[in-house]
Amino acid sequence: MTITEEIQSLKKEKNAVILAHYYVAPEVQEIADYVGDSYYLSKAAAETGAQVIVFCGVSFMGESAKALNPEKTVLMPDGKADCPMAHMADEETIRRMREKYEDLAVVCYINSTAELKRLSDVCVTSANAVKIVKALPNRNIFFIPDRNLAHFIAKQAPEKNFIYNEGYCPTHERMQTEEIKKAKKEHPDALVLSHPECAGAVLELSDYVGSTSGIIKFATKSSGKEFIICTEEGVAHELKQKNPEKKFYFTDTLPVCPDMKLVTLEKVLHVLKTGENEVHMETELGEETRRPLERMLELAR
Ligand code: 13P
Ligand code: SF4
Repeated sequence: MTITEEIQSLKKEKNAVILAHYYVAPEVQEIADYVGDSYYLSKAAAETGAQVIVFCGVSFMGESAKALNPEKTVLMPDGKADCPMAHMADEETIRRMREKYEDLAVVCYINSTAELKRLSDVCVTSANAVKIVKALPNRNIFFIPDRNLAHFIAKQAPEKNFIYNEGYCPTHERMQTEEIKKAKKEHPDALVLSHPECAGAVLELSDYVGSTSGIIKFATKSSGKEFIICTEEGVAHELKQKNPEKKFYFTDTLPVCPDMKLVTLEKVLHVLKTGENEVHMETELGEETRRPLERMLELAR
């Protein structure tokens, strides 16, 4: 049996479903039942009838899946795959902001630990953040942890007063305007499509800004033939599959998220066989984490 066949047969035997983010390796995306951005995957996790969820992504994704499905088994192929940005906010600052501002909503990017989510009013992903922030009754918005996404949303919601937090994604922040300008010189007809986790200067050079699935949709619908993609290189797999005739370029310093790349087929097989790396969450933490996640699913509908 090949490794893929073994995974497929264990999946049936254990009533398991495999979820994969666009940033994991192509061969892992290939064996998944659901491949998508953070919003799509959180909906898939909330709706699945399977007993076991294997989450090919980083720990905040597994935690969110567990919070939404306390009675299910959530397995992480690599228990050390973690998003550094998920830790870039702190409880003390959230408490201070709540004291300082009346009418405050703490809006938490889904790329955050369960401990941060439980202190927040609502979660968002890059695909639904503008819609949700605009729908909130509060004028004051403390957005954690990502400053770049916060600035991007604030521009589209001028009626809100944004308070920023200094978190960022190291993989997206590494993308420099110089390299994008160089790529544009080499491919003058290419459109620049960027993720809002990129720095503001990069977004200003962009023809489109959106989540990973937004980028894929834009490139697929566009009459353009060439694109410079400013997000993690894993999206290239879906982009090429959907658009075999189009060309996709990245910056010379290839944007690679080291944590997403910890997920391998061998590790998927291993956790399916052994049940290792199960996500455990105390009941109270799970319930408090579920609340802002469910509010997100409700408001994004
Ligand atoms: P989206 O999946 O919302 O596009 O976010 C990208 C990301 O960094 C996930 O870790
Ligand atoms: Fe976190 Fe950035 Fe990796 Fe996404 S790409 S998981 S935000 S470090």
